[in-house]
Amino acid sequence: MNAPVQDLNTFDVEAVRAQFPILQRQVHGKPLIYLDSGASAQKPRAVIDAMTGAMEHSFANVHRGLHTLANETTDAYEAARRSVQGLVNAASVNEIVFTKGTTESINLVAAGLGQSIRPGDEIIVSQMEHHANIVPWHFLRERLGAVLRFAPVLDDGSLDFAAYINMLGPRTRMVALTHMSNVLGTINPAKAIVDAAHAAGVPVLLDGAQAIVHERVDVRDLDVDFYAFSGHKLYGPTGIGVLYGKAERLQALPPYQGGGDMIASVSESEITYAAPPHRFEAGTPPILEAIGLGAAIDWLATLDRRAIAQHEAALYRRIKAGLDGAHWLTEIGQAPGKGAIFSFAVEGAHAHDIAQILDRYGVAVRAGTHCAEPLMRRFGLTSSARASFALYNTLEEADAFVDALIKAHSFFA
Ligand SMILES: Cc1ncc(COP(=O)(O)O)c(C=O)c1O
Repeated sequence: MNAPVQDLNTFDVEAVRAQFPILQRQVHGKPLIYLDSGASAQKPRAVIDAMTGAMEHSFANVHRGLHTLANETTDAYEAARRSVQGLVNAASVNEIVFTKGTTESINLVAAGLGQSIRPGDEIIVSQMEHHANIVPWHFLRERLGAVLRFAPVLDDGSLDFAAYINMLGPRTRMVALTHMSNVLGTINPAKAIVDAAHAAGVPVLLDGAQAIVHERVDVRDLDVDFYAFSGHKLYGPTGIGVLYGKAERLQALPPYQGGGDMIASVSESEITYAAPPHRFEAGTPPILEAIGLGAAIDWLATLDRRAIAQHEAALYRRIKAGLDGAHWLTEIGQAPGKGAIFSFAVEGAHAHDIAQILDRYGVAVRAGTHCAEPLMRRFGLTSSARASFALYNTLEEADAFVDALIKAHSFFA
């Protein structure tokens, strides 16, 4: 574990930045201003070192060996699982399943639920979901006759909570909602969502791909049944994600994929499955990636998460102030308490053009549908641009983004 890089309640962004080698680079001769962390965050030295260190000093396959390297690697892999357990405050380490990302975590739950879905059974999602939390449920509609119900989004980008409550009914089999929107930045009232669903006897899956990065998540406090997130947005590597599931929920879920490491025994006529979480980790898992994710979580634990949240909120306020009065710009999503994601449309300009011009100034933003086509349609858009902030962004970068955006707009004015 790294030494703390700052005291409680202060946030030394330069000390944090110094730990991200990639932030030293230039783009088109300008310092990189990376505002695409919502898509994938950059990696601190601690993560890079943990992964290369494992490859250089101690690597073998996990769970199967009797030799030193196999045991050391298994220990490192399982230590990463304990780091995840600590991050989300799960009751047991066995409630943490490693997957390849949020997408696979949700597919795992949907596929398992699919085995008991009957035509007419309902799944509640919302209009603000990422496709990762829509398409796996569409499979149940296409293949099994399930009904998808989309909780609406209000004009300010908040969830229409009253409409959500009204959708809960005797045919509801699952509520699958995002904890934080990757487009709007809206942070949904997770506890109230879970409480309402449980009062109707319905389990809840929260898509935490964005929220886990910016919020303190306590799955026991939320009482949520499933919580999914990805390593690569949390300053960890790609190819690794997490499915938290309450012990009894995982126990009741059929296996997702078959193969080595997920069975207790196999014969020619029958199989007995291993207990969770291994039941859901068929084949050689993403070992190095899990070690990298564990390092990211341990590294994050050395920082003051509250101070990070304040820092990110300050970045968002800075942009809002800088663009105050920009009548040519529409922000998409202004829900109270939203996170540091700024999605916008520029009058008369396509989002792709804006993103490409910003890139010439060294500013990396995302443009497109953000894998959220129902949401784009809800706001009458075909695409938008998005600046998403991370702990390593500075107020000067926020200012530079505002300047570059004003210049980009001037090409179209
Ligand atoms: C809210 C949300 N859910 C799900 C995903 C999918 O994550 P992954 O591609 O890592 O599986 C993303 C990625 O952008 C996201 O922002």
